[in-house]
Formats: sequence, C-alpha cells, structure tokens
Amino acid sequence: MPKILVLYHSSWGHIEKMAHAVAEGARSVEGAEIVVKRVPELMTEEQMRAAHMKVEQEAPLATIDELPDYDAIIFGTPTRFGMMTSQMRNFLDQTGKHWASGALIGKVGSVFTSTGVGGGNETTITSFHVTLLHQGMVIVGLPYSCPEISDITQPRGGSPYGAGALSNSDGSRDVSENELAQCRFQGRHVAEITKKMHG
Ligand SMILES: Cc1cc2nc3c(=O)[nH]c(=O)nc-3n(C[C@H](O)[C@H](O)[C@H](O)COP(=O)(O)O)c2cc1C
Repeated sequence: MPKILVLYHSSWGHIEKMAHAVAEGARSVEGAEIVVKRVPELMTEEQMRAAHMKVEQEAPLATIDELPDYDAIIFGTPTRFGMMTSQMRNFLDQTGKHWASGALIGKVGSVFTSTGVGGGNETTITSFHVTLLHQGMVIVGLPYSCPEISDITQPRGGSPYGAGALSNSDGSRDVSENELAQCRFQGRHVAEITKKMHG
C-alpha cells in the first residue's frame, strides 16, 4: 500500500494547516499510509518569537535518510520572493546522495504553497518542480477536476500546479475553506495516483 510523506515548512502556520488538510485528503484513499513531518528550522527560537512565528508545531522533524521509504512526497512551502523558503531549500540541498543513488527516481512528488498577496503563488510551485525533476520524481499537480480552482468568486490561491493560499501581507488572512478543499483534493489525488503506481 502506498506510503506518503507530507513534508512542510511553515513560519506562521498557514502551510502547517494546509499540510494537515492534504494529509486528510490522502488518508481518504483506502490503504494509504500518511505521515506528516517538517523540515528543520534555520531561525533561532528567539528570532522566531520576535517575528511572532509559530515555534511549536506538533509534526516531527524529517530526516534526509527516510525519504526513500516513501512512494510519494507532498511538499508544502511558503513563498519567499517567489520561491520556496531557505529552510526547504536547505533540506533539499542535503539530498545529493539520493540524487547520486537514484533513490527517489519514480516516486511521486507534488507541491503546495502559501503566499502573502499572491506574487509567487505559481512560481513557488513550478520552480520547486525543477528540483523534483532532477531527482527523477513524477510530478502530480492539481487538475481542474478540483472545482475550487475554477471558482473566482473570492480571493484565493491555487492553480493546476498545486494548492495555494493567500495569507495577506501581514499574515492576517486564515486559509479559506476553498483553499483547504484544494489541499484535500490534492492529497487524495496524489494518493490515488501513487496507489496505481506503487500500491
Ligand atoms: C522574506 C519573505 C519573503 C516573502 N515573499 C513573498 C512573495 O514573494 N510573495 C508573496 O505573496 N508573499 C511573500 N511573503 C509572504 C509569505 O509567503 C507568507 O508569510 C506565507 O504565506 C505564510 O505562510 P506560513 O504561515 O505557513 O509561514 C514573504 C514573506 C517573507 C518573510
């Protein structure tokens, strides 16, 4: 049965919330085993508290060595100037040995994100895909059969590249129900495809 890791970094909690929604969607696929973990933080606790970041997050830290244990990895990262955070980048930059051995080739990879006002909501995901392709992973996005990405009646993140949220420039906007539904859809979609490929 497919074993799926939801691996995220979150400073203020939007991506953390989305990660659990992605996991919920993935768990709805019978037999799928879902694990939620974080990448290690690079900021000190003092720096995080000064920036009102969410220091306590229940998900355990992932290790580089465990990545090959999964059939799929669904990555969640906030946007930093249109791209992934340095915390996620730093983690990925330690996966060179998996690139060298080909340990991640053929595994499913998928990405979701959260941006402040939207600049980078798509590029954070598409630029992330480049790394996944270098690792030989098979990219899964968020198809238009997810009705929420065709709904333009309200501000929202998200695209066929992956689920997305808008957190506002000061982080005051919570992840909307539309955006959480995207996350659940993406989680389920990845789990269904992974089950077909690796189940
Ligand atoms: C250094 C920095 C750069 C950022 N760059 C962008 C950006 O390019 N576009 C944008 O819309 N939001 C940007 N943001 C806002 C974050 O994407 C936002 O804080 C994120 O959605 C919050 O997710 P989290 O609650 O999981 O940490 C930036 C935030 C920081 C601290």
